[in-house]
Amino acid sequence: MIRDDLASAAPDVLHPILREWQPGADIPHLEPGEVRAWIVELDAALPPGADVDSLEPCGAELAVLSDDERGRAARFVRARERRRFAQCRSALREILGRLLGEPAASLRFRAAAVGKPELDRGPGISGSLRFNVSHSSELALIAVGLGRELGVDLERLRPIGEAERIVASFFTPAEQRAFAAIAGPDRPSAFLRGWTRKEAVLKGFGMGLSGLSAQHETGFGTTELTPQFTPARPSHRVDPWMLWEAAPRPGFVAALAVHAGPPADSDRAGAARSAADDALPAPPLRP
Ligand SMILES: CC(C)(COP(=O)(O)OP(=O)(O)OC[C@H]1O[C@@H](n2cnc3c(N)ncnc32)[C@H](O)[C@@H]1OP(=O)(O)O)[C@@H](O)C(=O)NCCC(=O)NCCS
Repeated sequence: MIRDDLASAAPDVLHPILREWQPGADIPHLEPGEVRAWIVELDAALPPGADVDSLEPCGAELAVLSDDERGRAARFVRARERRRFAQCRSALREILGRLLGEPAASLRFRAAAVGKPELDRGPGISGSLRFNVSHSSELALIAVGLGRELGVDLERLRPIGEAERIVASFFTPAEQRAFAAIAGPDRPSAFLRGWTRKEAVLKGFGMGLSGLSAQHETGFGTTELTPQFTPARPSHRVDPWMLWEAAPRPGFVAALAVHAGPPADSDRAGAARSAADDALPAPPLRP
């Protein structure tokens, strides 16, 4: 049984680990205080030679989705987006379902304020399972942790025409100076890394882009990234968040923001009602 006091372990015990998602793969036990993320290849299920743009979601992807999710998938104009959405949700459901010891199809989600998806369940350890999702092109990033809010963003590296204007509008004066000091050829990737960091923080808050402002100094990354998360430089700590960065694939950047403070009040309430934890299935977070 996981103890709630461990779920509030000090920030420096957090070890965000990035793994490759394989459908049906074992999902190791999630340690309290641990944050884990999976990279999902959204086109991986395509048969050899299949047309990435025209193949529809298959039965297996759709089977675990709710009616709402199937409806949402159907509303995408392009088959590619319908399939990728279904693939991403099915991976999310499988990951969370394995961690909770429950069937993927049985999970229910709800939207918090401004739309951040969360699990729709009561207080207690299983209620303190947090996740966030990002997708870009053929990749998705799914991060999961216990008791701490988190946000992720994944972006395919590409030139952003409006980068200078966005920096001027939504980055702090210190960040604007730092951006101006970055050599021209390095700016497109530095911008996207700065953007990805900010979006991860905003998604952690649950605000999404509606919260975009020059409030959180996340900075721009110019040091080399690795496929695993490493602390963002120069500031790993952007109160109240801790920030990590990775390049999960060549040509992609990812950022992960994890709340550095104690677990949310709702989790404390859950701890006080520890009887609810006792009611969880035997190995709730250990498949
Ligand atoms: C959420 C948001 C940041 C997505 O940005 P994006 O770069 O296009 O997408 P990403 O791939 O990084 O993230 C998408 C995922 O974030 C999650 N998400 C949605 N709303 C979220 C929120 N408010 N906070 C955190 N995560 C959110 C979802 O899981 C979503 O996946 P899904 O589309 O498969 O359901 C952006 O759409 C947004 O800001 N939306 C909500 C706020 C808003 O401006 N609403 C307008 C009316 S007030």
